[in-house]
Amino acid sequence: MTSKIRKAIFPAAGLGTRFLPATKASPKEMLPLVDKPLIQYSVEEAVNSGIESILIITGRDKSAIENHFDISFELEQLLKEKGKTAMFDQVRAVSDIAKVSYTRQKQALGLGHAIYQAKDFVGNEPFAALLADDLVDAETPALKQMIDVFEKYNAPVIATMQVEGEAISRFGVIDAEEIEPNVFRVNDMVEKPAFADAPSDLAIIGRYIFTPDIFQAIEKTTPGAGGEIQITDAMRLLLKERPFYAVKLDGRRHDAGDKLGFLIATVEYALKRDDLGGDFREYLRSIDLNS
Ligand code: G1P
Repeated sequence: MTSKIRKAIFPAAGLGTRFLPATKASPKEMLPLVDKPLIQYSVEEAVNSGIESILIITGRDKSAIENHFDISFELEQLLKEKGKTAMFDQVRAVSDIAKVSYTRQKQALGLGHAIYQAKDFVGNEPFAALLADDLVDAETPALKQMIDVFEKYNAPVIATMQVEGEAISRFGVIDAEEIEPNVFRVNDMVEKPAFADAPSDLAIIGRYIFTPDIFQAIEKTTPGAGGEIQITDAMRLLLKERPFYAVKLDGRRHDAGDKLGFLIATVEYALKRDDLGGDFREYLRSIDLNS
């Protein structure tokens, strides 16, 4: 088995119910954060972490994602004719970003089931899985931080972060011990526990590095929280056979699939932009927040 992480998969078949009505007919992965669709941020993160080949697991009504990473012939032609070279380059760069393939999850049966659709694409190598609505704003790309740990321990790696209070029950939660700064060995994990039952305050974030034996584990996994085939339950089964590690990411995580999280991410990303940040900051300062 090659140990280099070359492939990444992006489950993107979810119905986006937390963001209705915007997601009624458009994929949540295409919500624009400033001027880029959400999924482009994590695809860029993957590519900047050394990923060469990408599989996006889509569903019905998700064709905008495929169009986004394809060549837009008429648009390119028009930009060329008008001499808008910078715009042309920007548009072309999106379709050149990586080798992107697609498969469909025909029924939304859970994250574990979505990841299982990547079995043939993955073959017999370790691979990454990224959830596009978890954005991680980090100097070293989040996935790169995890690949470094994978290369050291040669075992699956989960991203984690501390979550205060009751909000922990919206996540998968790990029970783990820190073996070096920000790196944990996982003892157990549970999907969306009640606050009182959460084994720690360490939540699972939507970045994973799996070995191909995860697929056999998914095959053995029965529906769990919400009646869905949960990836956390599959990992828990596999944890009986092999160690798992977790990395507390160095960076700021945003839940951009949530309305408030999306607004916060939009403000933060816009403020960082060279072309927009100045004027936007000035506008924000002018708002009377007390009224
Ligand atoms: C999924 C996972 C969960 C993880 C979360 C991170 O849940 O099942 O373990 O903590 O992503 O965002 P979802 O948010 O899809 O319900």
